[in-house]
Amino acid sequence: MASGRGSNLAVILDAIASGVCPADIRMVISDKAGAGALTIARQAGINEVLHINPKDYADRAAYDSACGDAIERSGSHWIVLAGYMRILSAAFVQRFAGRIINIHPALLPSFAGADGVGDALAYGVKVSGCTVHLVNEVVDGGAILAQSVVPVLDDDDRESLHARIQQEEHRLYPATLKRIVEEGFRLDGRRVIWHKP
Ligand code: GRF
Repeated sequence: MASGRGSNLAVILDAIASGVCPADIRMVISDKAGAGALTIARQAGINEVLHINPKDYADRAAYDSACGDAIERSGSHWIVLAGYMRILSAAFVQRFAGRIINIHPALLPSFAGADGVGDALAYGVKVSGCTVHLVNEVVDGGAILAQSVVPVLDDDDRESLHARIQQEEHRLYPATLKRIVEEGFRLDGRRVIWHKP
């Protein structure tokens, strides 16, 4: 599920196409008709590429339920959020409990929310990064699967810092998905314990 440019989707597709990540993408859903992610998915020949318009539904619950029905029909196991900018309803999270993954452009639990990059910059931290995590009912609050750190430089603005973080995202997200598929993990409280390869 994606709302934006789709650069994370693109690197995940590359990792799958090159055989690095043994998975397949059954469906790409966007809430935004103009999302670059939709174009990337269509160009990659993904079977089902859907724009599901929130305006066609009465509320978030109805929208999420329609997305959930489409996902179930596709037979997908994992739901990978790649720049999906809508908060998921509790019902959706429960329906796919433990099967939704997100990437956030900050080192959680710091700077959760819609502007993790700008908030970290404004706070004045000297390192930031990205976090791949499971999705639960708390926004950016699920168990942490992987993190990567980048420096924050004195002359950074939001764009330059986000670009540096995205370079790491593009390495970390496919690598973590590969690990999920190949190794698997269990949860010990909030701790993700990877199975031995
Ligand atoms: C990424 O920075 C991700 O961390 C955040 O949204 C951005 C999506 O970028 N959740 P893209 O659409 O994958 O280029």
